[in-house]
Amino acid sequence: MFGCAKSRHYTCTDTDGLYHNAGYPIGVAINPDLLYTDSQCHRIASQQFNSFTAENIFKPFYLHPEPNAYYWEEADKLADYCVTNHKRLHGHTLIWHEQLPEWILSFSGSTSEWEQMFKNHIQTIVAHFRGKVAGWDVVNEAFDRDGTLRNSIWRRKLGDGYIERAFRYAHEADPNALLFYNDFDLESNPAKRRAVLTLLNNIRLRGAVIDGIGLQMHVNIYSPGSGEIVKAIEEVAKAGYKVHISELDISINPRGRPIDKTAALFQLQAELMTKIVVNYKQLPSRLQYGITIWGISDKDSWIPYYFNREDFPLLYDSNYIPKPVYCAIKSLL
Ligand code: XIL
Repeated sequence: MFGCAKSRHYTCTDTDGLYHNAGYPIGVAINPDLLYTDSQCHRIASQQFNSFTAENIFKPFYLHPEPNAYYWEEADKLADYCVTNHKRLHGHTLIWHEQLPEWILSFSGSTSEWEQMFKNHIQTIVAHFRGKVAGWDVVNEAFDRDGTLRNSIWRRKLGDGYIERAFRYAHEADPNALLFYNDFDLESNPAKRRAVLTLLNNIRLRGAVIDGIGLQMHVNIYSPGSGEIVKAIEEVAKAGYKVHISELDISINPRGRPIDKTAALFQLQAELMTKIVVNYKQLPSRLQYGITIWGISDKDSWIPYYFNREDFPLLYDSNYIPKPVYCAIKSLL
């Protein structure tokens, strides 16, 4: 079926958008530098996707660089772009242990000053984007691999209850925004997934609002298998959470070896993507927040840069030609 994948010219065209075929939002991580200056990137982002997540510019180090100063300019520009171009905007992320500004890392207040700072941080940002951001990743990556709470600076300073309070503060600031817990490996690590579900269920029982769970889904062609992914999606849905496949990419070189970009590897990538999409499609629509791909072309993916390896995890190749993985899901979404 993907015999043409050896050439750079694959079987399908991308003249119409992925989201046109889907009954749920199809999203993409946005790097504004590319969106506004690279015409191919702009064409693909606006034509193919109807939900945008800022890849970096909504993170604390970017939005909240000084104790009493917020940097809204770039984020507002993206929010306005989304309003004008009818894109849903997903906010990523309010509370995370990475990409924090120096002033938070060295904040030396008392426990109550920490709490005030934490609350202000969440509520100022959520209130600022009220009506423009549809959903927030309120807390990102709060668990360790073994299912215990990560000993992040937030936990050390605020105690285990910070996750629940983050959701409560966010809800107060915008009762209409959908609120998500977002994490990686939930699709490959059942112990971590169970721990997350247990904590979130308990928070819900105490009356706080948590609408959904973001399964980041940074997966690869070898692991986890599609069976495990299907199980994760089902468990999250069964517990009554909206499912956001929030940062999807499929590595073909997880071990970081010198690789030959064979058609077979790209076919495995296409097959795994197909299974994810076909399974997601079966969810009841009230639980389908959408599928977000973590970038547009392989040349701009975070994976090669972050893990320092050659890789090709996205839907488009470095020349913005749709890959077999794009063609495979085009008619299935
Ligand atoms: C990544 C971005 O893609 C990179 O550009 C940045 O250098 C590091 O962060 N989990 C997340 C995302 O929740 O925010 C991360 O994004 C990828 C892993």
